[in-house]
Amino acid sequence: MKKILLLNGPNLALLGTREPDIYGRVTLDDIVARVKDAAKGKGFEVDAFQSDVEGELAAAIGRARGVYDGIILNPAAYTHTSVALHDAIKASGVPTIEVHISNVYAREGYRHESLTAGACVGQICGFGPDGYLLALAALSSLGANRQF
Ligand code: DQA
Repeated sequence: MKKILLLNGPNLALLGTREPDIYGRVTLDDIVARVKDAAKGKGFEVDAFQSDVEGELAAAIGRARGVYDGIILNPAAYTHTSVALHDAIKASGVPTIEVHISNVYAREGYRHESLTAGACVGQICGFGPDGYLLALAALSSLGANRQF
């Protein structure tokens, strides 16, 4: 069975109460449950991890090679700052899809640059929590095309 790592960065544990006008009221637990449920139907197993700590996220990506077939990653604020996460994704060699709940390109200028997206297969943003499910579909189609 293919294994997917679902990784969420800083402040995403606060989903549900965090700026609901931007991020909605769905909690991270709900998102993880939805992804796990959808993954089952595709024959994928999902492990989920959230951290506010850049090094913990980099280490989790670093351990992914040979264990996970794909990564769904919302690096949150580290998207815009982290060369370390860019390098970790590249080093892991594991196909990674970047997800943002909000449309970062419609927000403050400092959110318009992603340091991590260039290390990923692609980026999905602006579709709310459904973005995680779209990322799962993207990994599934990569797998079907034998690209992972
Ligand atoms: C976010 C967008 C980032 O700019 C922000 O720092 C986040 C969440 C999103 O999912 O929309 O924490 O990654």
